[in-house]
Amino acid sequence: QTKVFNVDNINDDDKKHEYIRNAGLWIKSGEVVAFPTETVYGLGANALSEEAIAKIFKAKGRPSDNPLIVHISKKEQLGELVTEVSRAAEKLMDAFWPGPLTLIFKKKGSIAKNVTAGLETVAIRMPSHPTALELIEAAGVPVAAPSANLSGKPSPTTAQHVYHDLQGRIAAVVDGGSTGVGLESTVLDCSVDVPMLYRPGGVTVEQIEEVIGEVAVDPSLKDKEDTPRSPGMKYTHYAPKGSLTLVKDASNIQPLLNEARGQGKRVGVLTTTERANHYDADAVIACGEREDLASVATKLYDTLRQFDQEEIDVIFSETFPNVGVGVAIMNRLEKAAGGRMI
Ligand code: TXA
Ligand code: MG
Repeated sequence: QTKVFNVDNINDDDKKHEYIRNAGLWIKSGEVVAFPTETVYGLGANALSEEAIAKIFKAKGRPSDNPLIVHISKKEQLGELVTEVSRAAEKLMDAFWPGPLTLIFKKKGSIAKNVTAGLETVAIRMPSHPTALELIEAAGVPVAAPSANLSGKPSPTTAQHVYHDLQGRIAAVVDGGSTGVGLESTVLDCSVDVPMLYRPGGVTVEQIEEVIGEVAVDPSLKDKEDTPRSPGMKYTHYAPKGSLTLVKDASNIQPLLNEARGQGKRVGVLTTTERANHYDADAVIACGEREDLASVATKLYDTLRQFDQEEIDVIFSETFPNVGVGVAIMNRLEKAAGGRMI
């Protein structure tokens, strides 16, 4: 039985803090608890306990070679987790922590070895969501947390998404309402001489380069044949049940919808408010506004899950410009589509 602690629409402040504190203590004592961050919901466990971490992999059905991000609430916690912090990493932490940027460092002994899937490095992030910070603080230990979805599904941006995927498989979920950014943190390797981007996310490359100058980009992000440096990036991800295809020229979408419908399929289109009334389909979902890519990011995973709810067989999606947060949006859409783009 999965407990739900609702801290979103709660007037009683004492009760709210008590719920969050208890959730933190559950984590400390070896349970897994889902909680909101500013990016997506995380599934947290004590990063110092191999047994607790094993429960995360089991609950998600996550491949054991895919390492987890360790979440901290204050910078002082870094000292017990990593061996060295580069000048670039210092600057980035000052600029973007707390916030949606995960940095990879050379790791120190105390972290459970299944957290890092046997790697010599560890990914660390300080989230900015007040509930996440309070929960980590209450746990009193570093909190390892992947996104709180079943492996392969879109990441959860509401407690309902978490509950849908993991009810009965985890101790509790702290319901803090919808997350803000909507896509996962940016992952940047700072254990190498020239920092390298592994996963585009909430903090854009443009923002990072303003602080530390040019960074390298994992070649696999451009060339799909390359093997990603970050183990998690090689898996099919974020996928709805229906088959998703990205369509570069939006004027081709209606004929594609008609054709699939002619074959007896339930069809859907992922668009934005600007073009939503251009389409005739079983589900036309406006995923934010094209003029405001951040609004598209916020709604993307919920939109992908809605197509499942509407039992859509075939989905066509518009594409988005590869700049700013658009880079992360396109990265997730391409993965959700298994690379199908026409
Ligand atoms: O926004 C986020 O980052 C969310 C919230 C909950 O904080 N978490 C999240 O975790 O997205 P997850 O497990 O879904 O993604 C972590 C990514 C994976 O692609 C994993 O392979 C990579 O980070 N990663 C973790 N440790 C790594 C390491 N030592 N070296 C390379 N990649 C690593
Ligand atoms: Mg994930």
